[in-house]
Amino acid sequence: MIILGIETSCDETGIAIYDTDKGLRSEVLYSQIDLHAEYGGVVPELASRDHVQRIIPLIDKALIKAQINKSDLDGIAYTEGPGLMGALLVGAAVGRSLAWALKIPCIGVHHMEGHLLAPMLADNKPEFPFLGLLVSGGHSLLVDVKTHGHYTVIGESLDDAIGEAFDKTAKLLDLGYPGGPAIAKIATQGNPRAYKFPRPMTNRPGLDMSFSGLKTFVLNTWQESDKSNQTKANIAAAFQEAIVDTLIIKCKRAITQTNYNSIVIAGGVSANQELREKMEEYASNNNLQVFFPDPKLCTDNGSMIAYAGALRLLKGEQNNKGFQTRPRWSLEELSQ
Ligand code: KG4
Ligand code: ZN
Repeated sequence: MIILGIETSCDETGIAIYDTDKGLRSEVLYSQIDLHAEYGGVVPELASRDHVQRIIPLIDKALIKAQINKSDLDGIAYTEGPGLMGALLVGAAVGRSLAWALKIPCIGVHHMEGHLLAPMLADNKPEFPFLGLLVSGGHSLLVDVKTHGHYTVIGESLDDAIGEAFDKTAKLLDLGYPGGPAIAKIATQGNPRAYKFPRPMTNRPGLDMSFSGLKTFVLNTWQESDKSNQTKANIAAAFQEAIVDTLIIKCKRAITQTNYNSIVIAGGVSANQELREKMEEYASNNNLQVFFPDPKLCTDNGSMIAYAGALRLLKGEQNNKGFQTRPRWSLEELSQ
């Protein structure tokens, strides 16, 4: 089966072609970072308009790169939600129309299922069941992944998502957008021990998380500081270390609770080098296996949507009647 994947939930137009026999045939991506950078965050209306302009040329490019024609496609998968309504509508409308014209099945994919399954596009694939840690700009979730399509959220952030905390903290420190890569970069020059930031919600039992307090801690620390570049680097490093430590503490608890021996970490923040190294270290010291997506598949992309859609289309699932988008959509609803 050859599947076209379309991702337009936020500020990336991602298109990919996945072949269930041969793997990924092509992937193309247009990131709107420059468009939104001057506003310090994503402007939804600008995002939708830009998806409209990019999507058709990108689909053509993906087909050319894969050396196939539209008529070779066996199915189409697009991101149905969660995400920005206007942005989602662009991918859904194009995906549905194309599938209707080509008379092939079409399926709406849950964006976070796409992230969760992205590590399966690697040669060394995780096997079910596993603990999922999803860390993106909109979500921070600990998920008990029993098997494909059966997800129980066992912990989540009660306020800011981790990526959001990185983005807001970077804004406070005037480091630009998106904040995650900017903080990670300057943190390499900083001393994480220069400050002791809290590890939120780790002094009481439970798997839920909270990151908005850390941001306030950063603000106060920065305002009381000498505001030098070295101080900025030290704060970034201490902030990043606090996030990584907190995630490891929560993962340890979740592993004790589920008794699984593998962890899948995915979503934009899983690109973070410090997180990858510390998680690898924790896993190898505890006889666990940890899986990350290929670095280019951590942030939003069409490949994860093509792959997640392919698994469902292979099972015979499709929803060809009209189309819907779901700006808010719990991962757990997929299990019903
Ligand atoms: O998964 P994603 O592309 O979009 C959502 O589904 O939200 O995640 C984007 C988030 C942004 O908040 C960005 O700052 C963060 O991922 N991010 C990082 C890194 N690269 C991207 N955070 C920390 N370290 C990174 N290297
Ligand atoms: Zn995402």
